[in-house]
Amino acid sequence: MKKPAVTSVDIHPILAQRWSPRSFDPTATISTEDLTGLLEAARWAPSANNVQPWRFIIARRNDENFDKIKGTLVGFNQAWSPNAAAYIVIVANMKNEDETDRSISLFDAGLATAHLSVEAYHRGYAVHQMAGFDHSALNSTFGLPSSQDAVVVLAIGKQAPAEALGEGAIFEREVAPRERIALDELIISGIL
Ligand SMILES: Cc1cc2nc3c(=O)[nH]c(=O)nc-3n(C[C@H](O)[C@H](O)[C@H](O)COP(=O)(O)O)c2cc1C
Repeated sequence: MKKPAVTSVDIHPILAQRWSPRSFDPTATISTEDLTGLLEAARWAPSANNVQPWRFIIARRNDENFDKIKGTLVGFNQAWSPNAAAYIVIVANMKNEDETDRSISLFDAGLATAHLSVEAYHRGYAVHQMAGFDHSALNSTFGLPSSQDAVVVLAIGKQAPAEALGEGAIFEREVAPRERIALDELIISGIL
């Protein structure tokens, strides 16, 4: 199913066509080359002072990490995301070298995630981000120090037909139109 963005002027096709499906092909896998490509795209994202605070946890469907991550997801996300070929957890280093808080790391991690997502769609994969997980459980499952925080879990895989979800709330969300706030409502000041 495609749900292209409706835009007032043309934007890059990947940006227009990217969306977050929940129907993934349970037989599809992701090659090491493609997985590497996604992480390279994230690695080359810009960051404040080039600190590169992002770190990654990689999991392929049915491996030990995948089951560990799945176990921390909220029920709704556990219902649809295990058909993804891989999970990647985006972890952020939230402290500076002098132990002060580094809140900009969340912004940097978001940029890395955006880079990764665009590369994924370019390679024929869909990405669905999830903040719906038990953050402290995931942090402790992977032994993260208090200076690191798991920000988001990405479900990555080959998109499947919406009908594969069966009937119910998840299917309804899959076929619902994508919506955005109008552009003129986003502009605080200045004339377009
Ligand atoms: C940081 C972040 C967290 C999200 N968490 C969840 C989640 O836990 N479960 C879920 O089903 N979707 C989640 N989403 C997906 C959003 O609901 C989705 O991106 C948004 O509705 C816009 O839809 P689109 O990506 O198809 O354009 C998340 C997205 C982001 C960026």
